[in-house]
Order: sequence, then C-alpha cells, then structure tokens
Amino acid sequence: MIEVHAVTARNRARYHAYVEQHYRIRHDIYVGERQWLELARPDGREVDQFDTDDATYLLGIDAEAGVVCGSRLVPTLKPHLMSEVFPDLALIYGLPRARDIYEWTRIFVVPERRASGRSCLAAGIIQCGVLEHCLSQRIRQLSIVTESYWLPRFDELGWRPRPLGLPMLKDGMSIVGITVDITREALETTRDFYDIRNSVMAAPHGVREDNRGKRHHAREKA
Ligand code: COA
Repeated sequence: MIEVHAVTARNRARYHAYVEQHYRIRHDIYVGERQWLELARPDGREVDQFDTDDATYLLGIDAEAGVVCGSRLVPTLKPHLMSEVFPDLALIYGLPRARDIYEWTRIFVVPERRASGRSCLAAGIIQCGVLEHCLSQRIRQLSIVTESYWLPRFDELGWRPRPLGLPMLKDGMSIVGITVDITREALETTRDFYDIRNSVMAAPHGVREDNRGKRHHAREKA
C-alpha cells in the first residue's frame, strides 16, 4: 500500500532517509531514463536550486520498497523553475505569483510501478496526494512547466489547465507553462479516473523513528 507523506522543512529530519532515496530516484529517472543530462551530479542525487527549505515533497511511500512515487511543490513567491528558467512560457498572461499559488515539478513513479497503455495507479495516488495536500493548505492553483501532451490529460482529470503563453521546444520536447485549479471536483474526478476511494495521505507523523534509528510506518489512517 502506498501512502503519501507531505515533507516540509518542519518534519524533514524525520524523513531524512526517504528524502535521500527520492533524490537518488530522481537522478535515476531524470538523468538516467529521461536523459536530462544538465541535471546530472557526481553524487547521484538530483538536487537543484529549488530544493530548498521552502520546498514541500509529496512522497508516496510503500512499507516494503520505500519511496515509489513523488512530487515537489515550491511557493511561487520564491524563486521557482518558471520564474528563473522559463519566464518566456508566461509571456501572454504573466507569471502567476501569490501566497496561494505553488509551482508543481518533478512528478515521478519508479519504473516498476508503471503500467503500459494507461496511466498507473501510483501516478493517480501521487496526483490525488497533490490535490489533497493543496486543498488542506488552501493552495488554490498550481503553476506547471510541462510537456504539452499533459494538457489533455489534466483536462480529462478536471484540473482546468490554462496556458500562460505559447509552447516552446526544449531538447526536442514541446513544453508549455500552465496553471491548474485545485478544487474538490478535481479531486473527485481524479479519484474516479483511478478508482481511488479514500484519502491517499498518511496520518500526520506517519513515520516514526525508534531509538535504534529504524524506521516504521504508522498503520493508522487519519
Ligand atoms: N488516457 C489514456 N492513456 C494514458 C493516459 C490517459 N489519461 N495517461 C497515460 N496514458 C498512457 C500513455 O499513453 C502510456 O501508454 P504506452 O505505455 O502505450 O506508451 C501509458 O499510459 C503510460 O504513460 P505515462 O505517461 O507513463 O503514465 P503515468 O500517468 O502512469 O505516469 C509519470 C506518468 C510522469 C509519473 C511517469 O511516466 C514517470 O514517472 N515518468 C518519468 C518522470 C517524468 O518524466 N516526469 C514528468 C516530468 S517532471
């Protein structure tokens, strides 16, 4: 079973091993699989200038395998990918920046949990985790630098994607800057799409460390 844990600067020490596992998975996926070579680092951890204390990681953790899916949210009032690297993607409608707008980056599912011909359950779980977390934190919109093929997918899930400017080509990919709306309806349609019935979030303090430093998962759900 995968439970999604929201990891912030406040609880990151408790999740240290999982955060490190997720940096290594990101390196395997983005550098190894996707060949985004500018992200390569000799220590095998994919960490960029937006992995600061302001970042929130949503980590899908399986009791046996550890991190199997994840994502990152960064406040748009702080430097973020669209503001620092791709501002031209928001040339028509402008860069969205507000306390209740976060930037969503780095969604991944480890290859073993993916499916062919359809979006996998782990992707649905992490997307529901993003929505649930944002709803609980009163985040009403996400800005995203995304490959253009995601637009119809977000539309199908009821996330109301809106382009902020024209698409551009980056390393042979068509990318576009968009916003999506965080609503209860989007959570419902996303749950329906993936046949997810309940909250995917772990109980607060879902991981504890005993005095031997061994990690355990709390079994209880919120
Ligand atoms: N309707 C119909 N088919 C769909 C679909 C939808 N809404 N969404 C995906 N599919 C299909 C795809 O066409 C693909 O089919 P194929 O296997 O025949 O090629 C298959 O489902 C899997 O597509 P994928 O995009 O991998 O779906 P996913 O939702 O399970 O996973 C990611 C998406 C991004 C989590 C996963 O692909 C991943 O971890 N990729 C590496 C990291 C990455 O690139 N992240 C995005 C940029 S940050």
